Amino acid sequence: MDAFETVIARIVEKGGMAVALGGMDTGKTTFVKMCAAVAMRVGKSVAILDTDVGQSTIGPPTTIGLRFLSSEADLEPESLARADAIYFVGDTTPQGHLLPQVVGTAKLAQQARESGAEIILVDTTGLIGGTLGQVLKFHKLEVLRPDIVVGFQRGGELEPILGIARRSLPVEVESLPVPESVRATNFDDRITNRQARLKEVFAPPVHRWKVKASVFLPQLPPDIDPASLDGMLVGMEDGKGVCIGIGILEYREESLRMISTVAEGAKALRLGSTRVTSEFLTTRVDLRELFVSD
Ligand SMILES: Nc1ncnc2c1ncn2[C@@H]1O[C@H](COP(=O)(O)OP(=O)(O)OP(=O)(O)O)[C@@H](O)[C@H]1O
Ligand SMILES: [Mg+2]
Repeated sequence: MDAFETVIARIVEKGGMAVALGGMDTGKTTFVKMCAAVAMRVGKSVAILDTDVGQSTIGPPTTIGLRFLSSEADLEPESLARADAIYFVGDTTPQGHLLPQVVGTAKLAQQARESGAEIILVDTTGLIGGTLGQVLKFHKLEVLRPDIVVGFQRGGELEPILGIARRSLPVEVESLPVPESVRATNFDDRITNRQARLKEVFAPPVHRWKVKASVFLPQLPPDIDPASLDGMLVGMEDGKGVCIGIGILEYREESLRMISTVAEGAKALRLGSTRVTSEFLTTRVDLRELFVSD
């Protein structure tokens, strides 16, 4: 057995939650899927929690997604993309959104545990660098309370985070080298992937809902120009604490509407920090700037 197979066997044998950590393109997602396949082959019930809001495999980009698997066929990208639960973070990076990133992770992890899944595999973003990476990963691990952390690294780049986990949390920490064959996705591929995923999420037929200014979270300043919200991505809330989908705001003929493929109306809308073009390209918006009136 090679080192990878040994760690996978350990996760499957131990059960509970395993978190994959590593920088960009270190094989985290592939490892999570390999683990899920092995676990299902021995008859374990498996859930994957995808906390990567940029290169999402479950649910749309800008969201954390949870998926309960019923067969290996569910690991195919089109099937895996269909989330059982999502949490809207509102951006394609956790940078500047640590609070929703960590709260959403905790919330969906709890849902995964309550479902009784025997093995919960957590995929993460490649944001591991600097103090921000350490703060994010530590707090994520703190709320997740995993049984095993698997770190993927080329040099010692993940050691600060793995060291913190070893010293301060009751968790088994494994470190694996990044396989030579792991291919780096370039920046353009990442953009194209996100664009394609968003296009799928908003594939017709879409519904259009009229939006009242009072439904937003955070609240809109009273003097905001509603036209400035055109193209903004929102998370749709059902009023019971559940995110039912994402929408895009549209300002036309002096009225604010939301486009979504979700057939239910939302009780509240979480305003994200992402603006989407008609071609589904995304740009980042700082809400503090959007909310400043001039
Ligand atoms: N063990 C492996 N053997 C061969 N190829 C691999 C292996 N793991 C990953 N790859 C390939 O390397 C690329 C990156 O892998 P993957 O998407 O799993 O990494 P990631 O860490 O999740 O990346 P991201 O930062 O984009 O989330 C993919 O093309 C994948 O097919
Ligand atoms: Mg990944």
